[in-house]
Amino acid sequence: MSRFVSSTQGVPASGRVPRHVAIIMDGNGRWAKKRFLPRVAGHTRGVETVRDMVRACLERGIGYLTLFAFSSENWRRPEEEVTLLMQLFVKALRHEVVKLDRNGVRLKVVGDLSRFDAGLREMIAAAEEKTAGNDRLVLTICANYGGRWDILQAANRLALAEPEKAGQWLESDLAPYLSMHYAPEPDLFIRTGGEERVSNFLLWQLAYTEFYFTGTLWPEFNDDALEKAIESFRQRGLEAGRDQPGKRQVRVRARIGQPPLEAVVQRADQRRPVVVSM
Ligand code: IPE
Ligand code: IPE
Ligand code: MG
Repeated sequence: MSRFVSSTQGVPASGRVPRHVAIIMDGNGRWAKKRFLPRVAGHTRGVETVRDMVRACLERGIGYLTLFAFSSENWRRPEEEVTLLMQLFVKALRHEVVKLDRNGVRLKVVGDLSRFDAGLREMIAAAEEKTAGNDRLVLTICANYGGRWDILQAANRLALAEPEKAGQWLESDLAPYLSMHYAPEPDLFIRTGGEERVSNFLLWQLAYTEFYFTGTLWPEFNDDALEKAIESFRQRGLEAGRDQPGKRQVRVRARIGQPPLEAVVQRADQRRPVVVSM
């Protein structure tokens, strides 16, 4: 039986805020269309929402914010739009990294970066290095990311690293090779823009995550909208018994045939409040 141990780590115990929020930022194009603007205007406005959300997470003591910026499927968009999205990414890296660093934010970019040009890859590496020592908030940007790609690249790397265990790998063997191995699994998933699908985002990591969908378009998503999502998460936590430390975690671990594991219980709301200057 021990072969089928789940690697699911850090199932959220309780807390007023989620420890890790993962967001599909959708609706930029429709926001622009409503205003008779080119789609790019929506993406530009969307970057401002990213800035607001980083600030909102810092203020709330949320430890991890993960944003889906560009999916492996997004290459199918018109070349002009793809080029512009890349330019926006470069511009954001150039202008925001100093501010992120000043606010104690660690930046990570995950996905198949091999398709990006060398200059962009260097900027990403420099930004990650510059902010590597920060721990107030880990901001992960998923770029040319796909959940299936992630699982497959992890499996391939595991196969190369531990060929002698082929046929006997555990979930916990694969987990360290996933691109977000440094983060607990998301407690709250948000998708803006009204669609209710996962669009090949973090497939492995969303196994026990609470889902929240909203029709609000990403450029209009703000602090109040985030608060509503967190409130919904909190309510569901109360219903699921997450207000009593460990209760949901015990229930989930029982479901997957695991004894309680006190060590994985962490309360996000015990994080220190922070001063933000974004
Ligand atoms: C999300 O907004 C941003 C990216 C995928 C980069 P969209 O561009 O998908 O906007 P809609 O869905 O067309 O409104
Ligand atoms: C999902 O949005 C991907 C990102 C936000 C980067 P899309 O708008 O590309 O997703 P689909 O195509 O509607 O599923
Ligand atoms: Mg979309």
